Amino acid sequence: RIEDVFTRQANFSADIAHEIRTPITNLVTQTEIVLSQTRTDEELKDVLYSNLEEYNRMAKMTSDMLFLAQADNNQLIPERAMIDLRSEVIKVFDFFEAWAEEREVSLNVEGSASRVEGDPLMLRRVINNLLSNAIRYTPKKMTVTVHIQEHNQWVDLIVENPGVPIPKEHLSRLFDRFYRVDPSRQRKSEGSGIGLAIVKSIVNAHKGKISVTSGTVSTCFIISLPVTAPDQC
Ligand SMILES: Nc1ncnc2c1ncn2[C@@H]1O[C@H](COP(=O)(O)OP(=O)(O)O)[C@@H](O)[C@H]1O
Ligand SMILES: [Mg+2]
Repeated sequence: RIEDVFTRQANFSADIAHEIRTPITNLVTQTEIVLSQTRTDEELKDVLYSNLEEYNRMAKMTSDMLFLAQADNNQLIPERAMIDLRSEVIKVFDFFEAWAEEREVSLNVEGSASRVEGDPLMLRRVINNLLSNAIRYTPKKMTVTVHIQEHNQWVDLIVENPGVPIPKEHLSRLFDRFYRVDPSRQRKSEGSGIGLAIVKSIVNAHKGKISVTSGTVSTCFIISLPVTAPDQC
């Protein structure tokens, strides 16, 4: 197990170096080209805007990696508030409404359940990451459905979207850091393959379970969180 941890750490460092090298190379090249001759203010502004996007992406990636490092060191201690997952889902729907509309994707929530004990910000981040993936991979005019259900002291939150099935051999690796089914789509989708690793670390910190299924009808990300009875007075 220790060897496994070391191998993972080494791979993780190599992945980080790789992920950061590309944007830095882009920035260096861009800057060199701009400096190679006199430019108008307009041209300079264009380059600065494009650089800004790259800086923001790198800043997000860095803070995501810090979050994961905290999780690895068991420093991710969730707050213990009572949370109604259905109303959290609806809040995240509001956030994504304009983007979903633009992509002609509908959002739908079904079912409800007891409240679960957890950290509101972290759980919102989970819903946010899963929904942003689901919306991105849903074909036009189709619907993302979030199901909420309860059984035997567990609450399930299932994010389901139609779309091209994820090949079986990828399923077990989706939650790995930097893992993407199709790495060539990275730039277009603006993701760095960290979203699901963060989701998993938050679910683990809540003593929950996470799994994924994918078939011709849809892809489902299934999260189960334990229902904890509120403290008695
Ligand atoms: N709903 C989905 N449908 C199809 N593929 C998905 C879905 N969610 C995630 N994936 C695949 O899993 C990979 C990892 O997802 P994630 O960790 O969120 O990274 P990112 O969104 O940054 O690419 C994605 O690149 C994509 O290939
Ligand atoms: Mg993502």
